[in-house]
Amino acid sequence: MPDPKFRTIEPKILYFGTPVALISSLNEDGTTNLAPMSSFWALGWTLVLGLLDETKTAENFARHPECVVNLPAPNMWREVEKLAPLTGKNPVPQIKAKQFRFEKDKFGVSGLTPIASEIVQPARAEQCPVHMEARVTKLHRVGGEKLQKLGGGLAAEVEIIRVHVAADLVVGESYIDPSKWSPLIYNFRHYFRLAEKELGKTFRAEK
Ligand SMILES: Cc1cc2nc3c(=O)[nH]c(=O)nc-3n(C[C@H](O)[C@H](O)[C@H](O)COP(=O)(O)O)c2cc1C
Repeated sequence: MPDPKFRTIEPKILYFGTPVALISSLNEDGTTNLAPMSSFWALGWTLVLGLLDETKTAENFARHPECVVNLPAPNMWREVEKLAPLTGKNPVPQIKAKQFRFEKDKFGVSGLTPIASEIVQPARAEQCPVHMEARVTKLHRVGGEKLQKLGGGLAAEVEIIRVHVAADLVVGESYIDPSKWSPLIYNFRHYFRLAEKELGKTFRAEK
C-alpha cells in the first residue's frame, strides 16, 4: 500500500536550488567564453563543477586548464538569462540545436564587462561581486543513464588560487559578511534569492 504522504515521481531534472556561477574559460583565440552553471560545490579551496560534455566550457577546459568562477548577485539574473540560450560552440551541437545559438561575444550580449584576471588568462566578469581564479586540476567522467541522454558529462576539479570579493561584502581581514552576501539561486529553472532573514547559525560561525 503506497504511503499517501509521498508520491513516487520521475522529475526531468533534480535542480533543488544551488547558487549560480558564471564560468570564464579560454577560447582557442585567447578570448574568454562565459557560461552559466549551477552544479558545483566546494571542499576547502577545491571546487567541483558539473559540466555537460557538449559545452564550449568543457572543450576549453580540456585544452586550457584555467578558469574563473564568477558569482553573480541576485539582481543580475537578467544578465545571466541573456547568456542562458547561448553556446560558444560553433556549430551548435545537434543535441541543443533547437534551443541554443552560437555566440562568440558573451560579454557583449549580456552587458557584462571583461576585466583581466591577476593569475589566469580567462577574464573576470566585473559586475559579479565574487571572482575566483582557478586551475583545472582533474576532469572526471560522470556516469548515469539519464546524463548520457543529455550527451554525457564530467566533474571538473578546480583549485582556487585567488579570490576577489567586492569590498563592501568583506568584514575584518578575510571574512565575507553573510548578512550582506546573497547568491543567485537556481531552483528548478527559476531564479531566487535567499530570504532576507537568517534562520540561525552553526556553532563554528564567526562572531
Ligand atoms: C542558471 C543556469 C545553470 C546552468 N547549470 C549548468 C551546469 O551546472 N552544468 C552545465 O553543463 N550546464 C549548465 N547550464 C547550461 C549551460 O549554461 C549551457 O549548456 C551553455 O550553452 C553552456 O555554454 P558554453 O557551451 O558556451 O560552455 C546552466 C544554465 C543556466 C541558465
